[in-house]
Order: sequence, then structure tokens, then C-alpha cells
Amino acid sequence: MTFGLSTPIDLVRPARIVFGSGTLPAVQRWLDEQGLTRVLVVADAFNATRIDLLRLTGTVSVFADVRPEPDLPNLEALIAHAEKVQAQAVIGFGGGSAMDLAKLAAVLPGSGQTLHEVVGPEKVAAKRAALIQVPTTAGTGSEAGTRALVTDPATQNKLAVQSLHMLADIAVIDPDLTLTVPPAVTAATGVDALAHCVEAFTSRKSHPAIDLYALEGARLVGRHLARAIEDGGDREARAGLALASLYGGFCLGPVNTTAGHAVAYPLGSRHHIAHGAANALIFPHVLAFNAPAVPEKTALVLEALGLPAAQEPAAVLAAAGGWCRALGCEMRLSAYDVPRDDLPVMASEAHAIRRLLDNNPRDLSRDEILAIYQSAY
Ligand SMILES: [Fe+2]
Repeated sequence: MTFGLSTPIDLVRPARIVFGSGTLPAVQRWLDEQGLTRVLVVADAFNATRIDLLRLTGTVSVFADVRPEPDLPNLEALIAHAEKVQAQAVIGFGGGSAMDLAKLAAVLPGSGQTLHEVVGPEKVAAKRAALIQVPTTAGTGSEAGTRALVTDPATQNKLAVQSLHMLADIAVIDPDLTLTVPPAVTAATGVDALAHCVEAFTSRKSHPAIDLYALEGARLVGRHLARAIEDGGDREARAGLALASLYGGFCLGPVNTTAGHAVAYPLGSRHHIAHGAANALIFPHVLAFNAPAVPEKTALVLEALGLPAAQEPAAVLAAAGGWCRALGCEMRLSAYDVPRDDLPVMASEAHAIRRLLDNNPRDLSRDEILAIYQSAY
């Protein structure tokens, strides 16, 4: 079922990745090397208040209005801002939302292409500004990839743009930026990074060249997530999670996620549960459902999290669910005020996300998705 060593794979990643505590000055150093002085920073309201950490010396414009799960109007406001300032370099400074929008801000302004014209793989005509990604959370791995997601408010669907032109020229990952992330967000984003690794590891499209990162990413989360929740100032643990997030990003490009993310999507699109929290809630259910199809890999995932080996779905669910609860993740849909009578609609919506579900190691019917929601209620 899984791909073999001889299966072709395209290992896309940024040309330069600078990683580690105190590496933030690499951003301005790189701009100097390239001779770029007109810069646009794309950030959410919180990160916009600490742009000074980047110590930029050129002409800096800040778009400070990135929203969680950004939608089309949010992107349009950014494009209008970017067309005015005509930056030579765009810096994504924030979580996945800021970095995704920064990717689009590096290719769309002045291009004549609309978002709808570039949805899908490799429709973007050209990169129009240099792109620097600086993650401030450990979860999305967006700094490493070529995809950007924007919600269409008309349909609540996520529009996925994928382009090599949206790959960062340099990613600067300074885990110190995550020291102030509160425990609940640390937990949810940490499980999101884990989900990227585990879903790629167990995907029908899994590949030995990516399994290496997927399993090590899971081990890093297993070793460091509880520590970072316990003590947000634990630099070593924060660095471990930032590396896990990057490894998760390596998994997303060539392999991508499967049923976990598909089943979690309606929680965000219909009930505005944050991406990380939604994935944490669903993660143990999909790991358990898939266990019969990928028993060895499931056992390796549990071992990576420091849990006893199990292959029976009920035992896997109990172990992985208990692990998430111990981290403080909310694991009940009812706690988010999701109405029970919405579960069938959510199941139909999730079941339609074929780009992810078709790669799940075990076929998942609409009724089986509904059963997951009921079990998680
Ligand atoms: Fe995710």
C-alpha cells in the first residue's frame, strides 16, 4: 500500500533555512546580502506590535490585520495594501495565517491574476517579490511549503493555492519567538504539528524519504510538548517543537495530510474552532480508525509519544485520547457548543474533501465520519 524507495518524489523546500535560538537577525542580514530595502511585513495584530524584534533597517510597511483562518476579503485588503507599497521583499511574521497570506502577497500584487485564477497546483505566473518566512508559533510548518489556504466566504470552502513561486527564499525559525505562546495554544498547535507528521507517515502516499521526518517529528512532539506546556520558558522544549513543526511542513508538500485534517475541517469552517484545537480533537479518533490498515506505523507513533504499543482501535483511541487530554486539549465537540444536529452536515462536508480522504490508508465512509463526531461529542 505504501510507496517504495523507487517511487518518484519531489522534495521541495526553501533554499535556505536558518534555525535556532537567537537567529532572528538573519532576516535583515539576508535583505542586506540581496540589496533589498523596501519591505512589507504581513502579521496579525499581536505580532504587528513586536515588528521591532526583526530590527529591519529599510523602508518598512506593515499589514497588521491578518485574521485567523483568513478569508477572501482579508486577502483583498492585503493585496490592495501591497499594490500601494510595491515591496521588494515580503516577510510573513506570525502563524500559518500570516505566512500563507505572505506567500500570496509575494505573487499576486500587480500580476493581473486573481485568487480564483491561481487556485490549484502551479497556476501562479511568477514570483514578484522575495519571500521571507518567520514563524511565531510551532504547528503549521507553513514556512517550509508551497501552499496557501484562503476561505471563500460564499461557500466556506478553503481555496488551496499551490505554487513553487510561493516557496520562501529563506525561512528564519527562531524558537524564542514562541516563548510567550500560552499553554492551550501550545498544546493545540503542537498536536497539529504531530498530526501533519502522523497523517503523512500513515498516508497511502507515504514515502521513505519523508517517513524519516514524519517519525522524528512525532518523537520531538512526544519529548517536548508536555514540557513546553508545563514551562513556556523552556527554550529546549520550544526548539524541539519548532523543529517538529518544520518537519511537519516537510511532510505536507510531497505527501500531505489525510483523514485527520479532512474530518477536522468542518469544525473550523462551520464552528470556528481554531485549526490546531480542531485537529487535536480529531487526531486520536483517526489514528484509531486507521490502526488496522497500518498497525506497525501506528505502534511506532504510540511509541514516539511514550505510550504503550496498541493496535486495537479502542486501545489506540484510549491511549492517544488520554495523551491529548493530559496535555489539556479539549476533546469534546459539545464543549465547543457544536449542535448535535449539525453532525450529519459536517460529516457530508468532510466526506467531500477527496484531495485528503483519497490518501487515507483506510476508506472512510460518510457514516464512519459521523460515528467519529458522535464518539467525540
Ligand atoms: Fe494542520
